[in-house]
Amino acid sequence: MRIEYLGHACFLLDDSKTKILIDPFLSGNPLAARSAAEVEADYILVTHGHHDHVGDAVDIAKRTGAVVCAVVEVAEELFSSQGIEVRAGNIGGKMQMPFGSLKYVPAHHGSGVPGALACGFVVEMGGFKVYHAGDTGLFAEMEFLKDEKLDAALLPIGDHYTMGPEDALRAVEMIRPQLVIPMHYNTFPAIKQDPYQFKQSVQALGLQAAVLDPGQSWRL
Ligand code: NI
Ligand code: MN
Repeated sequence: MRIEYLGHACFLLDDSKTKILIDPFLSGNPLAARSAAEVEADYILVTHGHHDHVGDAVDIAKRTGAVVCAVVEVAEELFSSQGIEVRAGNIGGKMQMPFGSLKYVPAHHGSGVPGALACGFVVEMGGFKVYHAGDTGLFAEMEFLKDEKLDAALLPIGDHYTMGPEDALRAVEMIRPQLVIPMHYNTFPAIKQDPYQFKQSVQALGLQAAVLDPGQSWRL
């Protein structure tokens, strides 16, 4: 599986059969690696309703016919109301998908849509498991994610709105994924961080980390 970082919290997972786009904030994102008009997707995962995560999801879904996956209230309020096909779920729920499976996991964060919880996702595709944390603060139940035996964890390190590097490191200690990729930093002045320092801290735990510039990919 190829994991491409498109900037901020946006990633494209591609196993050469299915393209899964997550939190496609491209228009108006100063670090976006690609324009919304050129990105392709079969599924779009949206962790919550804030603009830096919903981003161009509506436009991309309408152009590509991608199915949007989000918690029920976000899916209804922002996507099915626009005629977009959705696979709505909720926290703790795992659904079988043509590409593998998708599990909605907790994130401690506002959702931007009344009644909705923000979420993270565990994507299983092509024999690999990838966790996208969404926007979240640190919480003790991240410990449960260790049992998922994750191949990669995409974790926010920006601070201010989400975990900062110190809390993200505590999350890494609990989750113990094969690979950590930091996200949600340096897009705005408020979330400026040094991802290489974070990478060193992860490596000091004996775990692997990769800092991807927007547009760069990692192959699992
Ligand atoms: Ni947010
Ligand atoms: Mn955010």
